[in-house]
Amino acid sequence: MALFELTIDDKPYTVDTDPSKPLLWVLREDLNQTQAKFGCGAGLCGACTVYVDDNLVRACAYPIATAAGKKITTISGLDDELAQKLKAAWLKYDVPQCGYCQPGFVLGAHKLLKKTAPDQTPNLNEVTNLCRCGTYDRIRQAVLDVHGQASQGS
Ligand code: FES
Ligand code: FES
Repeated sequence: MALFELTIDDKPYTVDTDPSKPLLWVLREDLNQTQAKFGCGAGLCGACTVYVDDNLVRACAYPIATAAGKKITTISGLDDELAQKLKAAWLKYDVPQCGYCQPGFVLGAHKLLKKTAPDQTPNLNEVTNLCRCGTYDRIRQAVLDVHGQASQGS
């Protein structure tokens, strides 16, 4: 066991846990932070996606020791202008079905749009998350809508 200082959604936390424990389980079991979901547990589905600093990580395959001292952002703390536009678009296009995968998808879309220039088309294939309900078309519509707004500078 070891002590780790974490910043999650701009709030400080201290946790005493196994250094090899995946960040997802520290969030969910040790800190009762359930925003990131458990899907495959193998780094494949993206349900557990969070930002660690400016990088998207799959928290089920990311040891807590690697996250120590870094800024962790979950869907709850993702609140910049782009995130607000994405969340509004998710409502506009009624994207979620069961909703389980959607926190990870919003984070993936956020990262994608941050790096896509206004005159480029977002490459949605870069968001490799999985949705068992098959909401891909609505996700695509929402992301392209937000990118269109960004392209027009609104
Ligand atoms: S639960 Fe982490 S990638 Fe599937
Ligand atoms: S909305 Fe149900 S898994 Fe994606």
